[in-house]
Amino acid sequence: MNVINGNEIAAQIIEELRVKVASSAVKPQVLFIRVGEDPASISYVRKKQKTAEQIGIQSRLQVLPESITFDELASVIAIANEDKSINGILVQAPLPSHIDEKKIFNLVCPTKDVDGFNATNLGKLCQEVDDGFISCTPAGIVEIVSRSKIPTEGKNVVVLGRSLIVGKPAGMLMLKKGLPGNATVTFCHSRTSNLEEFTRKADIIIAAIGKPKFLKAEMISKGVTVIDVGINRIADNEKKSGFRLVGDVDYDNVMPLCSAITPVPGGVGPMTVAMLMSNTVKAFELSQKQSNS
Ligand code: GUN
Repeated sequence: MNVINGNEIAAQIIEELRVKVASSAVKPQVLFIRVGEDPASISYVRKKQKTAEQIGIQSRLQVLPESITFDELASVIAIANEDKSINGILVQAPLPSHIDEKKIFNLVCPTKDVDGFNATNLGKLCQEVDDGFISCTPAGIVEIVSRSKIPTEGKNVVVLGRSLIVGKPAGMLMLKKGLPGNATVTFCHSRTSNLEEFTRKADIIIAAIGKPKFLKAEMISKGVTVIDVGINRIADNEKKSGFRLVGDVDYDNVMPLCSAITPVPGGVGPMTVAMLMSNTVKAFELSQKQSNS
């Protein structure tokens, strides 16, 4: 049984990027836009900035008030889109409820959309052209699968969840022609009937359904690979913070049946940040190519 170490794989990617960036006189630059003071967002953006610094990527943070209007936020993005020194733009989600997140993601210039959330980049993923950006969590899942040498060709992959940010792109990546990919993909979600009929037939399960410990041992077959994307906070009085993180998988009972599994924390989570950095370096390289041509 292989417990996949996402921290280790992420560290390898970060080191590869550090070496690449060190060889360039000009450095990539990413802009983080955070709206409001959501504690989880503050902590995620801080982690992203720290990792950028480790690699030699310059980062800027623009903090905007919770009361900002859609138009005001749109004009901040328009200025960043025009700024040639910025290679990547990330608008940290969630945004306040009065702002339409999808509309905001679509305002980010596709060549700077290091989150891979806008319609152009999601379309490029479906077209299987590789000059677009794949959102970071699905990209991290693919890296885990390929670096852990988990076979996908002809395998039954079941994706639990159909979100635009994780479920849909993760399924598309497993479906795409070539490796890792060439899988037979089934999407299951909150309205799927007899969900365990699908999960029992799966060779690989990608759990991104947002429900703590949702995937139980009786829902899977022996030898399955489980990629747990869930990050759920559950109360834990023994922790200083008052909570602990659990995934979408009932880890203790599922793990003994798996051929490979990602833990929470320390599985997919660190990969997301590493892939954001990888996208930023890619955006930088594409912009360098464009200015040289
Ligand atoms: N909020 C939680 N995860 C993410 C992410 O990957 N990107 C952005 N923009 N916001 C997030």
